[in-house]
Amino acid sequence: MSTEAVAAPHYHDKVVRQFTVMTVVWGLVGMSVGAYIAAELLWPLLNFDIPYLTYSRLRPLHTNAVIFAFGGSGLIATSYWVVQRTCRAPLFLPKLAAFTFWGWQTVIVLAAITLPMGITQGKEYAELEWPIDILIAIVWVAYAIVFFGTIARRTVSHIYVANWFYGAFIIAVALLHIVNSAAIPISLTKSYSAYGGAVDAMVEWWYGHNAVGFFLTAGFLGMMYYFVPKQAGRPIYSYRLSVVHFWALISIYMWAGPHHLQYTALPDWVQSLGMVFSLILFAPSWGGMINGIMTLSGAWHKLRDDPILKFLIVSLSFYGMSTFEGPMMSIKTVNALSHYTDWTIGHVHSGALGWVAMITFGSIYALVPKLWNKPAMYSVPAINLHFWLATIGTVLYIVAMWIAGVMQGLMWRAAEADGSLTYSFIESLKATYPFYAMRLGGGLIFLSGMVIMAWNTWKTIMPSAHDAQAAVGTAEAHA
Ligand code: HEM
Ligand code: HEM
Repeated sequence: MSTEAVAAPHYHDKVVRQFTVMTVVWGLVGMSVGAYIAAELLWPLLNFDIPYLTYSRLRPLHTNAVIFAFGGSGLIATSYWVVQRTCRAPLFLPKLAAFTFWGWQTVIVLAAITLPMGITQGKEYAELEWPIDILIAIVWVAYAIVFFGTIARRTVSHIYVANWFYGAFIIAVALLHIVNSAAIPISLTKSYSAYGGAVDAMVEWWYGHNAVGFFLTAGFLGMMYYFVPKQAGRPIYSYRLSVVHFWALISIYMWAGPHHLQYTALPDWVQSLGMVFSLILFAPSWGGMINGIMTLSGAWHKLRDDPILKFLIVSLSFYGMSTFEGPMMSIKTVNALSHYTDWTIGHVHSGALGWVAMITFGSIYALVPKLWNKPAMYSVPAINLHFWLATIGTVLYIVAMWIAGVMQGLMWRAAEADGSLTYSFIESLKATYPFYAMRLGGGLIFLSGMVIMAWNTWKTIMPSAHDAQAAVGTAEAHA
């Protein structure tokens, strides 16, 4: 049992356990759907002519499952754990916290039903129709009340930096969701955006980019600022840097959205503004990465034996890589080549698999034994194996997409002396097939690691014969 648990036994951890289990379950589901759609791109016949299985319907199911179900459950689980420990206070309104669990799972189940049915608002990462959007808003406000209420009743004066990041994530996501989802319903399952034309596109990508910035980045940085120092057994490298990192990141992210709309009907100056802010974003992103990695300074040997630390530190390297690549892709001339190609998909998954999923794996592995009062995960070699499968899977995925993306961009722009195109679209698609196969291979390897994690988690949390013996021993000692 951890010393923290001894010092303050009244923490509310049931909801943390529930969200933790669902993180693993949704990780399995979301990544399986990812592997399935990767296979569909290779073998389109896999849709079996069944509308529910078409790529266009399963793709948003994948993105919603991995981002909001897997990532969201992981973020809420860890934030509830972290805010209690760092504030030395139990969760505010535990019944409301229980509501956030059941409410969030209901949203996910509704998404899993409506998306394959083709019910969608057609806005990327905001596909769910208006009744589900309202439920999301209610659950999110409840989450904010529990989180900030716990901070308000803290028994230490200081608010640890991880909570700043979680807090920014919670506030920003509420703002983004409510503004971007404004719509005029015409029936229970159909609505039209409250915005039109280029304004609609700008609102959507203000939302979309900040979903990356606050959901896929700030929240996970909250995880990083708690679990990296904890697992390394050392204080964060520079607390001052973490404060600069926080303010710089949140003030710059909000302006970078137009890089998703280069060379569109958006005014040219807005596109350039998005590019400039994206370039500036490189600095705080790397500041945060360096702060995390340097926390290990002087204790690098720990990396050799601790696979959880390996997950956490390698996730930071991928974070650094994707936040170097992103600013580069936002440069208009680079975007002219990368946009619409698989390079974007490679960039997404270097962030999604390398950063988001890996930091979650590390944090969940650190959390599970504490939550179920076990000395360690059931199998440490299995964590090590998972680490290598995840790393190899990610590298295969992103290398395949880089090559495919640059190749597609170059083939599409190649022209003959008379101005006609050198290649037809279908030729570029044919040339991409080997890389789709390589991506599927990488995805399946990554998924197999997730299966091992699910098994290891199951074995850890299930009562073992050893636990039964210990219980008998305790009962006898009391008798
Ligand atoms: C086994 C692991 C995974 C596989 C095989 C996989 C596969 C795929 C495929 C095939 C696509 C569609 C690409 C396209 O339209 O050309 C996709 C899109 C996407 N995936 Fe994954 N994925 C995996 C894990 C994840 C995870 C863990 C996340 C997030 C945490 C994620 C986030 C996304 C996003 C955001 C998109 C949309 C990208 C865009 O529109 O630019 N994926 N994925
Ligand atoms: C400094 C940080 C970053 C910058 C400046 C940046 C920039 C960009 C750019 C320029 C694109 C391509 C837009 C296009 O051509 O359509 C893009 C796409 C994307 N990025 Fe990043 N990126 C950053 C970090 C990240 C991270 C850490 C993640 C994930 C965890 C991520 C996830 C995504 C996603 C999901 C898309 C695809 C959006 C879509 O079209 O559906 N980015 N990013």
